[in-house]
Amino acid sequence: MKNIMSSYNGWAHQYDNDINPTRDLDKTVTKEFLSKIDFFKVLELGCGSGKNTEWLIAKADSLIGLDFSKKMLDLARKKIISKKVTFINADLNGKWPVHNNSFDLATINLTLEHIEVLDHIFNSLFMKLSQGGKCFVCELHPKKQLEGSKAQFEKNGTDIVLDVFQHSEKDYIQSAEKAGFKLLTKQDWYSNEENLPRLISFLFEKLK
Ligand SMILES: C[S@@+](CC[C@H](N)C(=O)[O-])C[C@H]1O[C@@H](n2cnc3c(N)ncnc32)[C@H](O)[C@@H]1O
Repeated sequence: MKNIMSSYNGWAHQYDNDINPTRDLDKTVTKEFLSKIDFFKVLELGCGSGKNTEWLIAKADSLIGLDFSKKMLDLARKKIISKKVTFINADLNGKWPVHNNSFDLATINLTLEHIEVLDHIFNSLFMKLSQGGKCFVCELHPKKQLEGSKAQFEKNGTDIVLDVFQHSEKDYIQSAEKAGFKLLTKQDWYSNEENLPRLISFLFEKLK
């Protein structure tokens, strides 16, 4: 995990400006999808530099963003000056420093490829969401992962490839259902002319 954290700390200063069609598609998809849903109290897991926070907070009453990269959080804190937002430095593989049953929406974007054990994430999410709360997940598509696509960036002419874990569509769904979620929707998302879907999204609901 240390490798992933230090890679993001090293990537942070250029993350927002690098050419990155996955990041850009995720932003469009998240906005398009979540604009149709009502939400008030948001938990954003792996909030990074706050790319999606900016839009989420325009709609929500409050948001807590968790991320283990201090440098990514520094960017988010600079970008988003709002009393409605709290950013917390935390490892998602550990205990999350937020109250139980207190969010009606959780979002996870482009982060679960760095998480080996999905069950811990969905079990924790189940505790943190209120009844009927929803969880939006948008990740690099398993077909892209199988093709060899990984989070990576270039630094001083060298490609830095991050540690990633392969998760199938079934892995996400089974893990969420085991924790007590119901799958509401699943969608594949494409960048312009590509044959393979670039992203996959899921909307889960904590059963009442
Ligand atoms: C590709 S970035 C995505 C950031 C943001 N969600 C977005 O869509 O722009 C992945 C983020 O997940 C964070 N991350 C990865 N593994 C994590 C973990 N175990 N605990 C907390 N944050 C983690 C990284 O620090 C990074 O900021």
